[in-house]
Amino acid sequence: MCGIIGYSGPLEAKKILLEGLSQLEYRGYDSAGIAYFDTASDIRLIKRTGKVSVLKEACAQEKTTSHCGIGHTRWATHGGVTDANAHPHRAGKVTLIHNGIIENYHSLTKEFSLEGKLISQTDSEVAAHVLNHFYSGDPGTAIKSLLERVEGTYGFCIMFDDRPGEIYGVRKVSPLVAAYTRSGALIASDLTALIPYTRKYFVVPEGCIVKLTGYKISLFDTGFSPVTPEITEVNWNMDSAMKNGFPHFMLKEIHEQPEALKNTILPRMSKGLPDFTDDAVPDSLFTDCRSIHMAACGTAMHAGMAARALMEPLLRIPVSVSIASEFRYEDPLIDEHTLAVIISQSGETIDTLAALRLAKSYGAKTLAIVNVKGSTIARESDFVLYTHAGPEIAVASTKAYSVQLAALYMIACRMAFVREKFTRHQASSFLTGLLDAIPAMEAMIRRKEEEKNLVTHLIQHRDAFFMGRGLDYAFSLEGALKLKEISYIHAEAYAAGELKHGTIALIAPEVPVIAIATQEHVFSKMISNVREVKARGAFVILLTKEHAQVDPGLADIHIRIPDIDDRFTVFPIAVILQLIAYYASIGKNLDVDQPRNLAKSVTVE
Ligand code: M6R
Repeated sequence: MCGIIGYSGPLEAKKILLEGLSQLEYRGYDSAGIAYFDTASDIRLIKRTGKVSVLKEACAQEKTTSHCGIGHTRWATHGGVTDANAHPHRAGKVTLIHNGIIENYHSLTKEFSLEGKLISQTDSEVAAHVLNHFYSGDPGTAIKSLLERVEGTYGFCIMFDDRPGEIYGVRKVSPLVAAYTRSGALIASDLTALIPYTRKYFVVPEGCIVKLTGYKISLFDTGFSPVTPEITEVNWNMDSAMKNGFPHFMLKEIHEQPEALKNTILPRMSKGLPDFTDDAVPDSLFTDCRSIHMAACGTAMHAGMAARALMEPLLRIPVSVSIASEFRYEDPLIDEHTLAVIISQSGETIDTLAALRLAKSYGAKTLAIVNVKGSTIARESDFVLYTHAGPEIAVASTKAYSVQLAALYMIACRMAFVREKFTRHQASSFLTGLLDAIPAMEAMIRRKEEEKNLVTHLIQHRDAFFMGRGLDYAFSLEGALKLKEISYIHAEAYAAGELKHGTIALIAPEVPVIAIATQEHVFSKMISNVREVKARGAFVILLTKEHAQVDPGLADIHIRIPDIDDRFTVFPIAVILQLIAYYASIGKNLDVDQPRNLAKSVTVE
């Protein structure tokens, strides 16, 4: 959470910082600020509550040029959304921006007698004062002393009044990436801010200090010995981080799903079977384990739930899914015979990272499914399968869900094959079924007007219910999350058979119920459940396969997906559920890409 950018080089720093903050805004958008050295080498500081556009307006009056500065877009943790709490923070000769949480800021406030001196309510300003206390002209020594005192997580970018042109960066858990480019030196919390300038970058290692000047970047450890950065290359391009004619990133990313699926599946197919040789994932990982335990948050966790519903009956071993924020404080039943699958788009979600570390400490083998190359979870996991979705900018996750599922389905298929639950022929036709889901998804994207029309009823209600059985229940969970997060309609997902154990009391006339019925073996049971809610006056939006037999009048709206294998209906269904949420948000005139209170990457607990 919180977007960070720093630049030193020949170009106009203000412009680079403001453009970078626009790219990073999805990490937090409560307030934004920049600080830069002006022509007289004094530090100018401008910060505003609201979105980056408000900051841009404020900066339009600033006529001084600059070649070095730092910028921040905030997701509030300590202290409300005020100008004073916005970053950067200043204390004496120190100006800094921070992503993370300084847990011992209360005791530091006392120890360094900061009561009465603080302008903001933030933990970050306390860190600025502590750093200033230790600073007497040598940035490295002062930063080292700060790091010895602070507890918690941080990505800091720091400027010192008497070191014009220099930026220092240091991190623990919170991400920081840096690059030296033809345009100068850059540092950011997130790759998307670097893509306009370079595809080659390095992750700032924990325990190292990075120094940026206009002509070079240097990296050293806290003993001040130089460290060689490990350069990584990403194949994202500028187009992938732009809207490209779509009104919102979310709609663009919904459209990108078929391509993202192809990019994730096709390079991993060999002789009709999933093949992870190029990912260096050995079959022994799949043959040697006795159980699978997945851990993730939000949408990524829902991908795990859907995969679990497929994997357990197929593999005949225990497969469980944990909410990472719960898992990390449990004493889980895992050991060296467990395959821990850690799922994360960003690869930086702090609870998911903690779950990975816990699984490792129990001796489990870890396999991460991650979208962002070089992210912390990818680096710390024993093995990694990258999903190739390109950058996902909208806060509501769409294409990441589909590619996570595709990767999990491929794992299921390879595992079933090497564990002799699938013959070669079965494995190969499973993969064909997975590929068939791509045109089915494309068909639903082409028919998006159907969802546009159906939200008219939905958006007049405060509540909505999703229901399904088996795999369809797992898909409903994601449908409800999507609707909640961008339309602010209260939505609940239910296993259809469970509804009458309490929740059916909430079904009143006209309450929208989105019923998913794509699983043949429970179809008639599911239809009975739809009848039960219809009998109580619900407004039913029914999703079935093309040739499903349904009594006329059972559904108020009936959307049919192409007739594909039941195991893969999630892909076209996901498109429908995402579009329902998207159009509901538009219908309510809300901010689709940046819904209230949220941020893309949750790097604090
Ligand atoms: O980056 P991650 O996949 O680890 O993020 C996990 C969740 O924060 C994320 O999926 C979140 O639930 C989405 N915004 C939902 O659309």
